[in-house]
Amino acid sequence: MRELRRQGATVKVSMTKAAQEFITPLTMQSLSGDAVLTDYFDATQEEKFGHLHLARWADAYVVLPATADLLARITAGMANDAVTTSLLAFRGPVLLAPAMNTAMWDHPATQRNVAELRARPQVHFVGPGVGPLADGDVGAGRLSDLAELIDGVKSLFAGAPLSGKKVLITAGPTREAMDPVRFLSNPSTGKMGLAVAEVARARGAEVTVVLGPIGDLGPQPFEVVRVTTADEMLAAVMSRVASCDVFVATAAVSDWKPATVALTKTKKSDGPETLTLVRTPDVLLTASQAVHAQAKRPVLVGFAAETHDVIAYAQGKLTKKKLDLIVANDVSAPGAGFGTDTNTVTFLAADGASSSAQGTKREVAARLWDVVATHLVVR
Ligand code: CTP
Repeated sequence: MRELRRQGATVKVSMTKAAQEFITPLTMQSLSGDAVLTDYFDATQEEKFGHLHLARWADAYVVLPATADLLARITAGMANDAVTTSLLAFRGPVLLAPAMNTAMWDHPATQRNVAELRARPQVHFVGPGVGPLADGDVGAGRLSDLAELIDGVKSLFAGAPLSGKKVLITAGPTREAMDPVRFLSNPSTGKMGLAVAEVARARGAEVTVVLGPIGDLGPQPFEVVRVTTADEMLAAVMSRVASCDVFVATAAVSDWKPATVALTKTKKSDGPETLTLVRTPDVLLTASQAVHAQAKRPVLVGFAAETHDVIAYAQGKLTKKKLDLIVANDVSAPGAGFGTDTNTVTFLAADGASSSAQGTKREVAARLWDVVATHLVVR
C-alpha cells in the first residue's frame, strides 16, 4: 500500500475479521491516511463510507492476501462481510494475490475456485510464488514479492484507452486581487475539471490539473499544480501544453483583473468608487495558438459556459480558439453549471459531429472521454 501511494495512487482499505487478527485497522488507517472499512453494519463507518461507496469510488481492487477462504467466498458470490460485499458490488478490475499453504492451494476445491475466477474477464491473478512458506513447507503458495504486486496493479490499466497519454487540465476559478484583502472571482468549484481528471486517470492517462483557488482537496491520484491568478494559470499551462496529448480547459478564468493592485488595503470613502479593469490572458487561446505551429500537437478541448444562445456562442469559441472539441454548457439550466454535482452539456466537434450528455459530472466526464476517443485521433 505504501508503494502504491508513493507512485501516486490513492488507497483505501477494507479488512476481513481474519486480517484484523494479524494487523490492526489502526495501523492500516495511519498508513493509508484514511478510515478503514471493517464492518458494514457499523453506523459510523456507514456514515463515513456511504453504502457501497468504496465499490463506486475505486478504479481497481487488490485483494492481498487472497486466502483460500476469501477465494472461495468471492467465487461463490458471497457478501457476508465488508470486504466481500464491497467486492461483489465492484464492476472494475480486481487483482487477486493468493497466499496460503501449498496443500490448501493444491486442494481441488481451491483449484476449482481459481479456474472459475480466471474465467471472469475482470479478475486477474498475481502469483502465488513457489518457494519456502511461512509454515516450513516448500511449494506454491507464497505471496508474490512487492515488484510483482505493483506490476500486477499497473497491468490492470495497461490496456486502458488513455494508457501512456499525457492529459493537461485547467480547473476551478481564478482570483484577481484589487488589494491585499479584496479580489475578483467567480463561483466555480472545479468539480467538472476534477471529474474530467479522475476519469482520464481511471482510463490510464498521466494527468496534471492546473487548479485555481478552491479549498483543500486531500491527496489525488494525479498531479495538482495550484495557481491563483489567470497569469499564473497561463504560465503553468504554457510550460506543459507542448508536451501533452490532450489539453482540456474547464477553468472559469476571470476575464478581467484590476488595472493596478494596491499594496495596502484601500480605505473606503462615502461616494461611489470606480475600478479600472484590464483583460486577463485567454489561457486556452494562447495555448492553442502556441501548439498549432507544432507538427504533432495536442487535442484541444474547451468548455463554453453560456446563459443564452448556447450552441451559437459555443460554435463561435470552437472556431475562434481553433479547438477540436467544445463542451457547450448552459450554466443557467437547473442542475447544471457552477458548484452543482450534475451537468447537462452538448459536445460540438470541429468535424461537425455533435452529441449531448446529462448526468453527474463524472458521467459527463466519461462521455467527454468517449467523444475524444471516437471523434478525434489522440496523437
Ligand atoms: N478560457 C481560458 N482563459 C480565459 C477565458 C476562457 O482558458 N481567460 C477558456 C475556458 O477555460 C473555456 C473556454 O476558454 O474552456 C471558454 O470560456 P468562456 O468563459 O465560456 O468563454 P470566454 O472565452 O471567456 O468568452 P465570453 O466570456 O465572452 O463568453
